[in-house]
Amino acid sequence: MKANDYEAGNNGSAKGFVAAIFILSFIPLAAGIFRLAVLAGGAEITPDNARFFASPTPVVLHILGAVVYVILGALQFVPGFRRRRPGWHRAAGRLLVLCGLIVGLSGLWMTLSYPIPYGGRLLYVLRLLFGSGMVASILLGFMAILRGDAIRHRAWMSRGFAIGLGAGTQALTLMAGEMVAGPPNDLGEALLNGAGWVINLSVAEWVIRRQRKPYEWRKKR
Ligand code: HEM
Repeated sequence: MKANDYEAGNNGSAKGFVAAIFILSFIPLAAGIFRLAVLAGGAEITPDNARFFASPTPVVLHILGAVVYVILGALQFVPGFRRRRPGWHRAAGRLLVLCGLIVGLSGLWMTLSYPIPYGGRLLYVLRLLFGSGMVASILLGFMAILRGDAIRHRAWMSRGFAIGLGAGTQALTLMAGEMVAGPPNDLGEALLNGAGWVINLSVAEWVIRRQRKPYEWRKKR
């Protein structure tokens, strides 16, 4: 799939991109729905789930926000849809800003308040860093479109979405790490989670740069 296909409105590539997002986010979204069902239905309280029962608000907000953010967010990247229904893009975009901020802020809230028994200090710091990065990217993307700057808007929203989708890539990096080296220790857990965010942001940055080229080329002429 070529990055410029989004700009050119190549619907086949866009559909592939949306499908890839849904596949990538399937594991964390399924885990989230399972966690909500357990919280609603009650379960034996164990050291693994005690923090969610003791303080369910941030995790419930986090999961509900993430379901809307991922599903609706993927459609915002389809150029044909964006052009045919600009009103939809704007209305869905406002809801997405809210949901994205809820996901990022509740992620930070859990990082700061839950006694998370894995990942150690490094994962704690990475979550603070990337969670704040997600919130900042969404706010910068929102401010850019208020100024009418669609190029920066798209770039910042892509970065915010890439950090959010880190949850999906992390499921894969953790799985791969465990297959190669067995269950990770705290350092391994932190590095594999960090790798998920770095991979996603690198792909987003590559796509953003490829999309900018036609604009820069047109400006030079
Ligand atoms: C759309 C993106 C995201 C999805 C789909 C997602 C999904 C989830 C799910 C399903 C859980 C519950 C895990 C469980 O039940 O054991 C969770 C927990 C958590 N998430 Fe996210 N998340 C996303 C983004 C983020 C971001 C950007 C951060 C960064 C701060 C973050 C930080 C956390 C933290 C700290 C927890 C609690 C972990 C624990 O106590 O074990 N999440 N997330």
